[in-house]
Amino acid sequence: MALFSSRKTVVVDCDVLVIGGGFGGCGAAYESRYWGRDLKIVVVEKANIERSGAVAHGLSAINCYMGMQWGENQPEDHVRYARGDLMGLVREDLIYDIARHVDSTVHKFEEWGLPIMKDPQTGHYLREGRWQIMIHGESYKPIVAEAAAKSATAVYNRIMVTHLLMDRKRPNRVAGAIGFNVRDGHCHVFRAKAVIVAAGGASHIFRPRAIGEGTGRTWYAPWSSASAYGLLIEAGAKMVQMENRIVLARFKDGYGPVGAWFLLLKAYATNAYGEKYEEAWFDATKALVGAYADVKPMPTCLRNHAMIEEMKAGRGPIYMQTQACLDTKEKEDIGWEDFLDMTVGQAVVWASQNIDPKERASELITSEPYVMGSHATCSGAWASGPEDCAPADYQWGYNRMTTIEGLFGAGDTIGGSAHKFSSGSFTEGRIAGKSAVRYVMDLNGAAPAADAAQIERLAAMIFRPLDTYRINRNEIVAGTVAPGYLLPLHGLQRLEKLMDEYVGGYSTFYVTSEPLLERGLELLAMLKEDLAHLGAEDLHQLQRAWELQHRVLTAEAVARHTLFRRETRWPGYYYRADHPRLDDAEWHVFTASEFDAKTGDWRLGKLPVHHIV
Ligand code: FAD
Ligand code: ADX
Repeated sequence: MALFSSRKTVVVDCDVLVIGGGFGGCGAAYESRYWGRDLKIVVVEKANIERSGAVAHGLSAINCYMGMQWGENQPEDHVRYARGDLMGLVREDLIYDIARHVDSTVHKFEEWGLPIMKDPQTGHYLREGRWQIMIHGESYKPIVAEAAAKSATAVYNRIMVTHLLMDRKRPNRVAGAIGFNVRDGHCHVFRAKAVIVAAGGASHIFRPRAIGEGTGRTWYAPWSSASAYGLLIEAGAKMVQMENRIVLARFKDGYGPVGAWFLLLKAYATNAYGEKYEEAWFDATKALVGAYADVKPMPTCLRNHAMIEEMKAGRGPIYMQTQACLDTKEKEDIGWEDFLDMTVGQAVVWASQNIDPKERASELITSEPYVMGSHATCSGAWASGPEDCAPADYQWGYNRMTTIEGLFGAGDTIGGSAHKFSSGSFTEGRIAGKSAVRYVMDLNGAAPAADAAQIERLAAMIFRPLDTYRINRNEIVAGTVAPGYLLPLHGLQRLEKLMDEYVGGYSTFYVTSEPLLERGLELLAMLKEDLAHLGAEDLHQLQRAWELQHRVLTAEAVARHTLFRRETRWPGYYYRADHPRLDDAEWHVFTASEFDAKTGDWRLGKLPVHHIV
């Protein structure tokens, strides 16, 4: 019998359920309302949408904007850029679809009050780089969330979704979602005709560099807990490119982003001796990846590769020569605002280490890997493409519908389409929202029916860690250690350590191989067995427990995809030591996986990469 017997179950019925009120989710809520005037549109969010997700703290740039009104770029240009950056492998239909709509999204942001910097000479948005524009973005998230809140019938904040619900009769048809309120502990059941998952990417899959007093600090938000993948994998959705984890060059220890410094301020990176090192690695890199080394701008992974090789050669620290570019007050202000708007911790590192960026260079380093679908990386779900331009085998239903009927995705959730960033994620949410509304309208009242037995089973399972803790805490042997349970933090640390050491984290300079991956998967299987004994002291820890479950499933997908792709496609993101070269003859394909939750089996395969631009 459950020990928390006062727990209520709240049941919510709706037409469109949006899981995660970040950038993809806000876009989905906004657009669903536009097309579905009379529909019941519900957003469920584990934090509070006003300050949730990867943009919680604000941003200093919008990294995906075409500028079509000024003839700056066309959608086809963006497809070429993303394809080059991802070493040839992207869903061009999905990227094109976002690129052709993204400008209208940015114009809405400005209309809603987001201050976008202007070029005083042209009056156009101030470009950071070819695709990026500068904003005063500390309040970016509340501005965008307000539009979503006004559009949705209801926003349920503070509810962590743990599982998707499936139809009673059709196992591949989504019927809603279940989770719990992280404040009052009530169970929440959402029954929906269509579901859009926009629950963000994943940090803390690999061991972060930050330790001790900095523990928990990462570049991607620490609360990006892989739910977008965990929920979908468990339900059996087809996932792609899960091996394509991203490593980022960042200002050391504060994880400050580098884009504004390289592109707008024209700072440059050197080794410890003040030498620019990227060119020096060109021939060696070309021997590994062939013509992809000639792509301009240099792909993100190859920029990392040069930095990693330089560090391995003992010529670190690597430095961003900030002092060489901050020669005016305007530039100095932009440099500081870049961090104060987006990564305050980096400004704190400067203050705490007595670094004045106009006097002294700052260290750069490559981060631990993250799993995402919206940056220079494209892990995520395989989705049906746009009706007018997706190749036939990329289209089986409604735009952005996954391989599960009625289940849509946006932002980090959707695989194969890199370089969406904040504006592209919101745009993809809009595309998914419009599509989900059409899907609901086409149903003609034929709603799915959630399976009562599944709900009952899950409701008991979700809260079990609370009981496990209460029963076993009497056996605590020292500190927080008890033989009867595993605490979420201890489970997380085991996961991060094994992913780091066996699956290509920073401590091996991102190197892995078949034997390492096989051993990592063996240890992962043991960790998975122990997750049945997770103990949660309170509701906060219960949330941590379910975040860990989502992270572990996602980590397993990363390891299995990495094992499956027998080449090194993205040096600088990870290296297969046993297959050190890029191999276009065998691997100019997407890797795909499907998990069967009943048997625990994974099925891996290849999917074709079509070039439409
Ligand atoms: P998110 O916006 O992270 O939204 C996911 C939402 O789902 C969150 O609100 C989360 O709380 C919620 N959620 C997660 N799990 C659950 C669950 N189980 N149940 C319920 N809710 C859940 N982009 C730019 O355009 N320009 C930049 O300059 C830029 N810089 C960045 C700097 C940093 C430090 C970071 C972290 C990101 C940056 N980005 C930038 C990238 C941008 O933030 C992401 O691309 C974008 O937010 C992805 O959108 P999303 O909807 O997929 O995820
Ligand atoms: S952010 O998401 O945290 O802002 P970052 O600062 O790395 O990421 O990148 C911002 C934008 O600049 C991205 O579009 C990225 O691809 C691009 N970028 C960063 N550094 C470079 C570079 N050296 N050359 C070309 N593009 C770059």
